[in-house]
Amino acid sequence: MTPPAEGPRAIVVGSGIAGLLTALHAVEHGCRVTLVTKDVLEHANTRYAQGGIAGVMFDDDRVEDHVRDTLVAGAGLSDSDAVRVLVDEGPARIRELIALGVAFDRDAAGGFVKGLEAAHSYPRILHAGGDATGTAIEKALVAGLRASDVTVIEHAFLVGLVLDASAPATGPRRVTGVELLVGETDAAPGRRETLHADAVVLATGGAGELYAHSTNPEVATGDGIAAAIRAGAEVADLEFFQFHPTVLEGKADAAGPAVGDSFLVSEAVRGEGATLVDENGRRFVFDAHPDGELAPRDVVARAIARQMDAQGGRPVLLDATHIHSADTDERAAFLARRFPTIDRAVRERGLDWAREPIPVTPAAHYLMGGVATDLFGRTSLPGLYAVGEVARTGVHGANRLASNSLLEGAVFGARAGDVIAADAASGAWTGSKRSLTSLLSSLDDGEPTPPDALDERASHTPGVTDRTPAPAAPFSRRALQQLMWEDAGLVRDEEGLAHAASLISHWRAQLRTPLTEHEFEDENLLLVAARVVAAARARRESVGAHFRSDDPATATPRDSRAAAATVAPVAS
Ligand code: SIN
Repeated sequence: MTPPAEGPRAIVVGSGIAGLLTALHAVEHGCRVTLVTKDVLEHANTRYAQGGIAGVMFDDDRVEDHVRDTLVAGAGLSDSDAVRVLVDEGPARIRELIALGVAFDRDAAGGFVKGLEAAHSYPRILHAGGDATGTAIEKALVAGLRASDVTVIEHAFLVGLVLDASAPATGPRRVTGVELLVGETDAAPGRRETLHADAVVLATGGAGELYAHSTNPEVATGDGIAAAIRAGAEVADLEFFQFHPTVLEGKADAAGPAVGDSFLVSEAVRGEGATLVDENGRRFVFDAHPDGELAPRDVVARAIARQMDAQGGRPVLLDATHIHSADTDERAAFLARRFPTIDRAVRERGLDWAREPIPVTPAAHYLMGGVATDLFGRTSLPGLYAVGEVARTGVHGANRLASNSLLEGAVFGARAGDVIAADAASGAWTGSKRSLTSLLSSLDDGEPTPPDALDERASHTPGVTDRTPAPAAPFSRRALQQLMWEDAGLVRDEEGLAHAASLISHWRAQLRTPLTEHEFEDENLLLVAARVVAAARARRESVGAHFRSDDPATATPRDSRAAAATVAPVAS
């Protein structure tokens, strides 16, 4: 369908599953869509998703069970309306992906292969290419986009959102476009360009680059969240950063899909029966949770971190040497077939996981919080939408259920794409309303705060002795990542968070006005880091992925089987 020349103009920033589906739906509804992305289209976090996409696709699965699993994993902080939308509309979006060419793996009888991952009460995960689900989805959607009327601008970096200058200074101002940095090369600086539109959709992904160990590609620098904060949009739940329990450390082949120095080993491996053992071969996760290796992700990640501490920082072991077959060669063939991407990465590191357990550690994986939205991706700023990881729809609560991220991107991306044209025509705006959590996380106003002010605030917190920031510690991205890993990582406390807040504030005050893409990214990372730390300080109790060692008592273990008996069934 060719969009009418006078259709509303929409700019989508980002090219993962959420951005691509938003663009495809918006163009179907008559919008003139431009999709901009800071790298090439294919280079989005979606491409690295291994495990798959969750959805109620089998006759003996039930919507209420997927809803319940999502709520239990989210530690009770999910928005139940958003979860209901996610689960209800998930199957239609999965069928849309299939129609667009995603070949989910099938068994000999032609049915979809069922995958199990942690905290799911049913094996409802569909996967493609074994463990290359994200690559298959990204490829199909990019092909669909290229065949559509969407205009694509690659290598365009989001510098900021353009606000309606004619609006009164008080109250939220309409977003009317984006400012981009384009054409930067090693030899030449970029130039600034402004694009105007009736709607801007942030689909810029997360901020895994905040941490020293991350499963995310280097493009995940929190650009959309930072731009939204600067424009005055509400953000929420930034204290909830998910750490994946199992990554392989060490460089992999640059030609493969490995990211940075942490290579994701899908939870689906544990879903197939692999266990986690300590240096003495003991399965230790049962100490933390009755579901053992298939407990919610935050529980498993913390159990690993604790075990690593107990064994001098050395990795724990993922043991797949007993799964599938007693015959080692058959097992090796199974692992290579079921997990071709991981199998390659394991072997590139000189390991043979059919015969020996492999060393694994946790790494930053997914930001549950983000730009607060309603059920259609609308933010608190008229004209601005957020979809995918950059958004806080409320579905994930304090800890995302495995394989719900591709689903969220698909469901809420499509919903946003479906309403943009109608919203533009009506001129009305019913976007997200400021939530308590976003208020709490707004301790820092987003602007560089004089270091003294934050130091003073920390020093007035009862019982806290601030560590003195090394006065000469210069900013580097690596230093920020290490700071966040140590002080705002898997386990936090007020002393560490106060230290992080102080140092981040110090660095922000020192940054020069950014000129290059890398400098803009640094500025964004520092702003998002400040907000993550502020939100983590504001939430004094441990819940889900946010674990405070100065308040461990409130973190109740979540047993999905016990919870199944206590969570009220969802009316269908
Ligand atoms: C994994 O395959 O373990 C990651 C899937 C997810 O993050 O949902």
